[in-house]
Amino acid sequence: MNAVATERAASTTARFFPVALDSIDSAALSMDLYIRVGTSDEPVLYRSTGVAFDDADRQRLAEQGHEFLYVPLAQHAAFRRQLTSRLDHLYHDPKQRRIERMRVVRTACARSIEDVLSFPGQPEMLDAVADISRTFARWSHEDPELFGHLVDLSSHDYYTATHMVNVGANCGVLARLLGIIDPVAQAPLILGGLLHDVGKRGVPVEILNKEGKLTPDEWKILARHPEVGAEELRAVPGVPAVVVDMAYSHHERLDGTGYPRGLLDPQISLAARICTVADVFDAISATRPYRGPIAPDKVLDMMAEGVPNHFDRDVFAAWSQVVRGMVAKHPERAATTGDMA
Ligand SMILES: [Fe+2]
Ligand SMILES: [Fe+2]
Repeated sequence: MNAVATERAASTTARFFPVALDSIDSAALSMDLYIRVGTSDEPVLYRSTGVAFDDADRQRLAEQGHEFLYVPLAQHAAFRRQLTSRLDHLYHDPKQRRIERMRVVRTACARSIEDVLSFPGQPEMLDAVADISRTFARWSHEDPELFGHLVDLSSHDYYTATHMVNVGANCGVLARLLGIIDPVAQAPLILGGLLHDVGKRGVPVEILNKEGKLTPDEWKILARHPEVGAEELRAVPGVPAVVVDMAYSHHERLDGTGYPRGLLDPQISLAARICTVADVFDAISATRPYRGPIAPDKVLDMMAEGVPNHFDRDVFAAWSQVVRGMVAKHPERAATTGDMA
């Protein structure tokens, strides 16, 4: 979304919050939808609760240049409920192949994370992502094998929101492997993964995707993202401390060579260690503008060099085992070419 759209959308958030077109379920609406017309700051009613909203509506609005509709703040709980049911529907959709279902779910979740990145300080946006974390934890509890298919082993492009969804899913799988099975205990770890890079909002994409060494100034900008993210999350009432910790500490290394604080082994929590392994795996796997994707087993080999100085031995061993198991069982999931990204 461009800066003007962000500014305009943000100016209405006192009474409305924006929802991406593809976050709205194709069914009878459970909330009122408003639309911005022309240059007016005040959204006008587009569809009322109970009226249908379908793919043709979505397409028409997109063609007219609308990226968002607006929902009254008082109805955000209803919006979140429909988002959860939309995710459940996509995740279990019998008409789609499993690999495709998971891709669609990840894309839908990435939209919610883009909303968090686009509208800083809006608690409703974070609430929607917290709902996603609870949905992930429930899925993981109901059927861990199926939930494991959310782990993205394919040749995806690196975008911050996509990466955050992947890290959230990876954290859920890892938490379970390490014995954190109760969905109530698992959800905050997933949420920490989903939000860990929220401080990257202001980092230019040229820095995020730069090939080779960053200049000292570029590095200074990038290296602030854990602290910026932690500060932002700490300021929102209700965000669990473990989520703040994962945002703050996911670039720490056990030997003290990480950033931003250079913490040492005993100072780094299990949650942060989980986030680090989940994060590095996805960051290395992804395609960058300057190189193609790297296959999962190769990524694990590269990461193994960082054990035990960088990564926690037990967390990495668990992750390594699960990824190799997934690839052995479903080699098609690890395709590094073709259209499965
Ligand atoms: Fe990061
Ligand atoms: Fe990350």
